[in-house]
Amino acid sequence: MTLLALETSCDETSVAVIREGAVLANVVSSQVALHAEYGGVVPELAAREHLRNLIPVARAALDAAGVQPGQLDAVAATQGPGLPNALMVGFKAGQAVAYALGKPFVGIHHHEAHLYSPWIQTAAPAPRAGQGTEASPVAVAFANFADFQPNISLIVSGGHTMIVLVESELKHRVLGGTLDDAAGECFDKTGKLMGLAYPAGPDIDRLAEQGNPAAYDFPRPLLQDASDDFSFSGLKTAVRYFVRDHPELLEDARNVCDLCASVQAAIVDVLVTKTIRAARRNGVRCVTASGGVTCNRALRRELARACAREGFALHLADRALCTDNAAMIGILAERKLMRPGPPAPLDGEIQPGWILA
Ligand code: KG4
Ligand code: ZN
Repeated sequence: MTLLALETSCDETSVAVIREGAVLANVVSSQVALHAEYGGVVPELAAREHLRNLIPVARAALDAAGVQPGQLDAVAATQGPGLPNALMVGFKAGQAVAYALGKPFVGIHHHEAHLYSPWIQTAAPAPRAGQGTEASPVAVAFANFADFQPNISLIVSGGHTMIVLVESELKHRVLGGTLDDAAGECFDKTGKLMGLAYPAGPDIDRLAEQGNPAAYDFPRPLLQDASDDFSFSGLKTAVRYFVRDHPELLEDARNVCDLCASVQAAIVDVLVTKTIRAARRNGVRCVTASGGVTCNRALRRELARACAREGFALHLADRALCTDNAAMIGILAERKLMRPGPPAPLDGEIQPGWILA
């Protein structure tokens, strides 16, 4: 089966070509530079950019894969959650292609795709999701599911933070999520308070490497709470008041590095502690993590350290597959299409508020 996958839920236009568990191409065109000017994603601009970029990105993906549209056996697109007008571009284009080719179409839950992205093992240098359009003619093999189940999965992105129990392939249950801001949002908003450009996560990661994580003691919300829920708005408020009361700190680059390291340590501490606790409580010995924040070096390091201490296996999504990409959409779609059942109707609608169960 050769499958075309489209992802346009937020600010990356991405198209991938998948064949039997291998990613033949995964092209990502990021709009980050466009939205940075506004300090966050502007939904209307995002949708227009997707309209402008989708065909060139699809053409680049098909060219990189060496596949003609007529050779496609199925089409998949992100159905939700996401920005409505942005979702609509990829979802409706996908349905139109499937209709024109007379092939099955499958709508994919964006977080479910993140959830299974650590199961994709890169066989070669992975595609880089960065600014501009990048073709990636590398093959990515789908991992052996048996190595992964059951597991506790942390999904941490700009829009969501959740802990999921994965019992087996495509059988999962969300145990907890954020009550307010997502972890990525916390990185981005606290970074903004420190004068960093949107999205601040990657800059905080970089600056924190030269800072002292114990320099400032920021709150670790819900750390002691027995639930699998998160809350990051209190941390953001603590940083806001701290910066208001100590504006002089932002004038010294060393202090900014210390601030970044301290804020990052608070976020990472909560994420790692609660993930490990959930794994222990559910008696599973495997942990996975995915979503944009999983690019964070401290998070990757601390998860590795904690899992080694507990004797848990750890599978982190490849850095290039942490941020939004169509490869994860296509890989999941292929697994779904391999299951028995009637093809999905072509008149399905986007689900901007779709909640992962
Ligand atoms: O998964 P993603 O690309 O988009 C959503 O579905 O939200 O995640 C984007 C988020 C942003 O908040 C960004 O700041 C954060 O991931 N992020 C990072 C890093 N790289 C991206 N946060 C911390 N450290 C990083 N290295
Ligand atoms: Zn995402």
